[in-house]
Amino acid sequence: MNHLISLKKLSVSEILDILRDATRLKNGDEYKFNSNLYMTNLFYEPSTRTKISFELAQRKLGINIINFDINNSSMQKGESLYDTVKTIEAMGIHSVVIRHSMEQYYKELIGGCNISIFNAGDGCGEHPTQTLLDLLTIQNEFGSFEGLAITIVGDILHSRVAKSNAEILSRLGVKLYFSGPKEWFDDVCEYGTYIDIEEAIEISDVIMLLRVQHERHKPGQEYLMKNYHEMYGLTLDRERRLKTNCIIMHPAPVNRGVEIDSRLVECKRSRIFNQVNNGVFVRMAAIKHILQHKYGGNFIESSNKKWQSIV
Ligand code: CP
Repeated sequence: MNHLISLKKLSVSEILDILRDATRLKNGDEYKFNSNLYMTNLFYEPSTRTKISFELAQRKLGINIINFDINNSSMQKGESLYDTVKTIEAMGIHSVVIRHSMEQYYKELIGGCNISIFNAGDGCGEHPTQTLLDLLTIQNEFGSFEGLAITIVGDILHSRVAKSNAEILSRLGVKLYFSGPKEWFDDVCEYGTYIDIEEAIEISDVIMLLRVQHERHKPGQEYLMKNYHEMYGLTLDRERRLKTNCIIMHPAPVNRGVEIDSRLVECKRSRIFNQVNNGVFVRMAAIKHILQHKYGGNFIESSNKKWQSIV
């Protein structure tokens, strides 16, 4: 496996291996590549969490980062994504992280480029590393996935997080539910069952709220935002009725007062900032998983000394 494009390409066992490595890293183990690896991060769409955590993960792994500023790149002279990636590859960069508004932008790249690609989000398509950090957050909480009731709430149609999460959560044996405006339902809802938000509140072990993706909406959908919080959001009253051990997740950034009452963002049940924290470790583990076989790697013994030697 040379790329991380979609979790559909990974077996459950490979995904659990990445989560296991992420847990070791989180517990203090260290891993550094012994070869001189170079990576570039191409973010054609805005990002805070994904961009910074990829960069932090790369630094912690001893990978050299070559900065790329879209606004001062030859993209401004009309250079295509394909030609940009081919150019980066020709210079000897080993791997690239890409976020782009075009769904499946990677298809033409994989055909013509040899460089390893990490998908940091393709339009409304997929967001595999967000899903890995969501899985780690759920695993940290419940230990396993089988039989958990998880409801994904909100703008499913425009959410790459929903698309990536639904497929693998279903493979992991989760009882998957969807809730929110029916206008924003998508084929991905076939992985689960539609339920009203009030039912979701009663039965869920995890309430996974989605950001309303205003930037992807076509004109004419503004009416869905009227009373969105009251109709579909996590209000203070709904939070009080959640199951005792139910946790709240959200990929963020959060529209406070829309998907969730602002006072709940940091409440006891919220795992929103745990998700962000886990993002660094799953991205380290994912980079290790994809690049170690291609380029070799080495482990540095930490106080925990849990790594198996891989070289
Ligand atoms: N969750 C997420 O992808 O956040 P950013 O857009 O800030 O990277």
